[in-house]
Amino acid sequence: MDVQRVRDDFPILNRSFHGHPLVYLDSAATSQKPTVVVEAEERYYRESNANVHRGVYALSVEATDAYEAARARVARFLGSNDPSEVVFVRGTTEALNVAATSLGQFLLERGDRVVTTVMEHHSNIVPWHLLREQKGIDLRFLDIDETGRLRLDALDDLLGPRTKVVTLTHASNVLGTVNPVREIADRAHAAGAIVVLDAAQSAPHRKIDVERLGVDLLAFSGHKVLGPMGIGVLWGRKELLTRMPPAAGGGEMIETVRQDRVSYRDPPARFEAGTPNVAGAIGLSVALDYLEAIGWEEIAAHERSLYLHATEQAHRRFAERLNVFGPSDHGERQGLQSFALRGVHPHDVASLLDADGIAVRAGHHCCQPLMERLGVPALTRSSPYVYNTKGEIDQLYDGLEKVTALFN
Ligand SMILES: Cc1ncc(COP(=O)(O)O)c(C=O)c1O
Repeated sequence: MDVQRVRDDFPILNRSFHGHPLVYLDSAATSQKPTVVVEAEERYYRESNANVHRGVYALSVEATDAYEAARARVARFLGSNDPSEVVFVRGTTEALNVAATSLGQFLLERGDRVVTTVMEHHSNIVPWHLLREQKGIDLRFLDIDETGRLRLDALDDLLGPRTKVVTLTHASNVLGTVNPVREIADRAHAAGAIVVLDAAQSAPHRKIDVERLGVDLLAFSGHKVLGPMGIGVLWGRKELLTRMPPAAGGGEMIETVRQDRVSYRDPPARFEAGTPNVAGAIGLSVALDYLEAIGWEEIAAHERSLYLHATEQAHRRFAERLNVFGPSDHGERQGLQSFALRGVHPHDVASLLDADGIAVRAGHHCCQPLMERLGVPALTRSSPYVYNTKGEIDQLYDGLEKVTALFN
């Protein structure tokens, strides 16, 4: 993979901050966008904008066709042969809220159990907490071990006769851990539960295959896969989506509305109330084309080399002064690194790196239960992507050495 050629597609990477070229290492929060994605959105508004599904005139038909083509493109990315399994939403957060709200209405009763994990993003905890508060569901958390992997040995204890949903992240946005989804899904299904997968952190880095993963519902965000903000996906098995009630009401999701009754359309329309983000869906499809043109294996190899380089820097320059969380074996993790630098608050680390133009994130990363489990108030996270170079990883570690020197 020619990183320099990839970088040429991301003009934002030419910016400077505080007199230093930008080193963008916050792609787990949001990725940058290649020019083709920005142009596809702009072209839609310049040439094809009309409301979808509502017009008989040519422009509206064109917009509708482009929107539905984007849906088919996403289905292909997910390994689904049925585009109607793809529901466009604003992002992972909305997708998981739709899933929880809808399952809460037709599946979950007081005392029913939902199993999530301690490494989840708040987006995959709070929607279930809402059901705990509103309906009295029994919300349980699968723990992690000392290496940052899920405690699969504790799973069966949580899978009782009333376990209706098992919901987990494919990859942790803090630990980098990639979870053995298929094994968990098989065990959850054997216990009669539905499996929901948060693929926000995996979709940017690997081709998703819903059949191989064996899950029932899956969520991801466009803006983390080089696509626009405000577009995301809830994928669901057709048979399940068909049984699920809508989570929001409005235009386009109805079949008929009378004063005394209402009926709903089939999925995906049932879950897409109101005018959708057509430009965003088109931008997302172009982003997936862009990633696939690079190639998932090329992307994985590039990210592995960045990760191994970062790990080598961490060991050689810092040894135990830098505590990097999560599994150490790259085969079981993604390339991001969340760390604690001994004696320096994570926010100070991030602020001092910013002074050198290096953009990393510090905080609880929307994972307060995980921070509590790890016994840390916050961590600093570096999350590289397709456009980052080993030179930038060196700059990060140079910056961390400066931070250490300052605090000593
Ligand atoms: C694992 C995980 N789940 C969910 C989300 C929420 O995604 P969004 O803010 O795009 O809805 C994130 C975002 O950081 C994430 O990392």
